[in-house]
Amino acid sequence: MQHKSERVNFGSKLGAILAAAGSAVGLGNIWRFPYETGNHGGAAFILIYLGCVIVFGLPIMIAEFTIGRRAKACTGGAYETLAPGTHWKWVGYAGVLTGFLILGYYSVVAGWTLEYVWQAASFGLSGKTSGEYVSMFQDFSQQPFRPLLWLFVFMFVTHFVIVKGVKDGIEKSSKIMMPLLFVLVILLAGCSIMLPGAEKGIKFLLHPDFSKVTPDVFLGAMGQAFFSMSLGMGCLSTYASYFGKETRLGHTAMSVGLIDTCVAVLAGLIIFPAAFSVGIQPDAGPSLIFITLPNVFQQAFANVPFLAYICSVAFYVLLALAALTSTISLHEVSTAFLHEKFHFTRGRAACIVTGGCLLIGVVSSLALGEWSSVKIGGLNMFDALDYLTAKIMLPVCGMFAAVFVGWVLDKSIVKGEVTNYGMLKAPYFPVYLIVLKFVAPIGILAIFINELGLLSW
Ligand code: PHE
Repeated sequence: MQHKSERVNFGSKLGAILAAAGSAVGLGNIWRFPYETGNHGGAAFILIYLGCVIVFGLPIMIAEFTIGRRAKACTGGAYETLAPGTHWKWVGYAGVLTGFLILGYYSVVAGWTLEYVWQAASFGLSGKTSGEYVSMFQDFSQQPFRPLLWLFVFMFVTHFVIVKGVKDGIEKSSKIMMPLLFVLVILLAGCSIMLPGAEKGIKFLLHPDFSKVTPDVFLGAMGQAFFSMSLGMGCLSTYASYFGKETRLGHTAMSVGLIDTCVAVLAGLIIFPAAFSVGIQPDAGPSLIFITLPNVFQQAFANVPFLAYICSVAFYVLLALAALTSTISLHEVSTAFLHEKFHFTRGRAACIVTGGCLLIGVVSSLALGEWSSVKIGGLNMFDALDYLTAKIMLPVCGMFAAVFVGWVLDKSIVKGEVTNYGMLKAPYFPVYLIVLKFVAPIGILAIFINELGLLSW
């Protein structure tokens, strides 16, 4: 690929881990994970999810790191660099397209977080009845203009960070935002589990009920693992192309996987104990954190309105920060692609991506209100985009990344990347190869076939 000589790297190993963790930790952990867990019956879903993280997530993350760092090119160019003249480049292009589509609808929800930061800070979430929280969210998300305003603000901030570049934009912002995010998530989980009656929520998270497990649960857990770990669309391989020689791929993947899983479980520990404590059902779906949580904070701290206020503001700030580090990584995939492949300046490439994503964002946002009657396969356009990208495109592209590293890339290259060319030991290497060659691709296919109802377990 072009521009190789000008290519920048992250300044430190910690910077690399925090940037990748910033991509992974996002709305997927705090918004999507709790509602998927709630819809799929709690602890049993979490166990299957953890299985997917270990069996597919970590090996595919190391595989994507290998592709990116070895090629020193964005995802769209990495396959082309490593397997020139083959059709593998289409996997890279599909990844870029997937990231672009995800950014479109993801920024809509990211925009909602800003509305809720605003509402929380200006006392708009105080002293309402349960019904009022429902109508507040519905009125807001279904009206045409206000969500679009926040969508534009969110995209503008993302654009600003991207234009600042890899080191001064992505790395620096992750180094500030990620520690803040950890502190907030731990404090809020601490508050939630101290509430009276919180045990029921903790039990819901820790005691599996396997009678709720259907093929759909497996597809849901797999899609969630890919989405939450930012796998399958080349986000992490683009970031890995900025990793220095000394960055340890296995260690970085373990750190990112651990941080991502801990934040998801902590988000569950914020939401479910608090929801059960005030008698709210956990299966409210995507609106869980926008309808249920403000209500929960008000009821839980009814006697201490100041705490309710602080918790609400802190929670939505947490959500906005988490979303921002992820939108930055999604944006970077397409920006780097346009910059490296078509020689646009970074600024111009970023403008094209921002413009395109705003268009998809506007469509996704209107799909929840004015255009909700337009359906694709029974889903509105917002839900259809989520289904297509998270449940189909991410696992399919991730499966190809595993097959590429397991079967196509020269073994000496694969081993060289995980051992930093002989500087490190990687005793897990033989198992890692078996997982990439057989376990991950067969597992992912089996889950698809199972979902289609062609295979009975
Ligand atoms: N992992 C992010 C989250 O959990 C979402 C994301 C998906 C980001 C794919 C990048 C790529 O919110």
